[in-house]
Amino acid sequence: MNARPNSAPVPAEQVFDWLDAEAARRVEAGLAHRPQPRGATPGELDLAGDDYLGLAKDKRVAGAAAAAALRWGAGSTGSPVNNGSTELHAELEHELARFCGTQAALVFSSGFLANLAAVTALSGGESAIVTDRHLGASLIEGCRLSRADVAAVAHSDTAAIKHALATRRKARALVVTDSVFSVDGHLAPLAELSTACREHGAGLLIDDAHGFGVLGDGGRGAVQAAGLAAEPDVVTTISLAKALGAQGGAVLGPRRVIRQIAETARGFLADTRLAPSSVAAALAALGVLKAEPELPGAVQACAVALAAGLRDGGLSVSSPQAALMSVRAPSAADAANWAARCAEQGVRVGFLRPPSVPDGVSRLRLTVHARLTESNVDTAVKVVSASAPSAATS
Ligand SMILES: Cc1ncc(COP(=O)(O)O)c(C=O)c1O
Repeated sequence: MNARPNSAPVPAEQVFDWLDAEAARRVEAGLAHRPQPRGATPGELDLAGDDYLGLAKDKRVAGAAAAAALRWGAGSTGSPVNNGSTELHAELEHELARFCGTQAALVFSSGFLANLAAVTALSGGESAIVTDRHLGASLIEGCRLSRADVAAVAHSDTAAIKHALATRRKARALVVTDSVFSVDGHLAPLAELSTACREHGAGLLIDDAHGFGVLGDGGRGAVQAAGLAAEPDVVTTISLAKALGAQGGAVLGPRRVIRQIAETARGFLADTRLAPSSVAAALAALGVLKAEPELPGAVQACAVALAAGLRDGGLSVSSPQAALMSVRAPSAADAANWAARCAEQGVRVGFLRPPSVPDGVSRLRLTVHARLTESNVDTAVKVVSASAPSAATS
């Protein structure tokens, strides 16, 4: 055991002094985080949220949530095995699996937990995990918790994935990827990854948080679009809090995969189940998506139009393949100030700074939703371009 440099007891009020030093360092680096609470009816153009189909406030969805809270209660009252599982949860799992074409589904209280549970339950000390370096935060946490040998290779580099699979030291292997990378909105080469997995006897776990509801036939997601949803070696995770405008997450895949997660993952077993109102909201939103299959196409067209407008103004914009894109900012402080100037002019945009960006480049993060009009897009282009720091235009 290491000796402490000074073994005199630290007074209670100084125990957390190091937190202030860390906070001061974040302020100096432009990385302090100040959530800006919004009102119920903000009156701003929303290019920051992940409500891609504009369903969070849809009366059919919000109304279903309210009715379910009155009927089933405000909370689920327990973990999955202790009173928390209702017929509503079972219905949502059935409907999600049917919609996406998988054998089974399991609903979680968040997409974050769905990822933690899926990665940990499908790996372990006897496994190797191979990931892309631009992986989303919840998958990274899952890999850290997994006890597996983890190799994170260069972004979108299937050859590097193959090499890591071929040289692994563990018999079992899992390739873990986002479908749509949440910083720039790029698609992973899912078909290539599936082939690589087949060549090396690995499972493929795909986080379709940003593809579900936006890509694939009628919004069935990027995994369905790649023809992989029903494959025996492919597992998909989704968030119910993005295109469905609700809350929660799910894992979809072969029945035995779902059984393994439901019977072993602490992120499932030791967590109070998703509130009935959120389950009902997700079910209602799924109903809207089925009834209005044109919504996903509208989102994609809107993203392409917004990116083109911003690029015409000289900004460095990623090429969105779903509903989100990023615009490069000269520094972390510039990104935060740029977003604040947009908000002052009625356009709410997100921004990303280290450690949320894998390459250390700060960015604005813009999302679109299906209800945006052409005039909304024009306004957004004007405001974002006019508020840009001079070093952001090429
Ligand atoms: C790629 C990705 N996966 C998972 C999540 C987590 O989903 P949830 O917000 O439902 O916890 C997010 C959240 O932003 C995400 O961007």
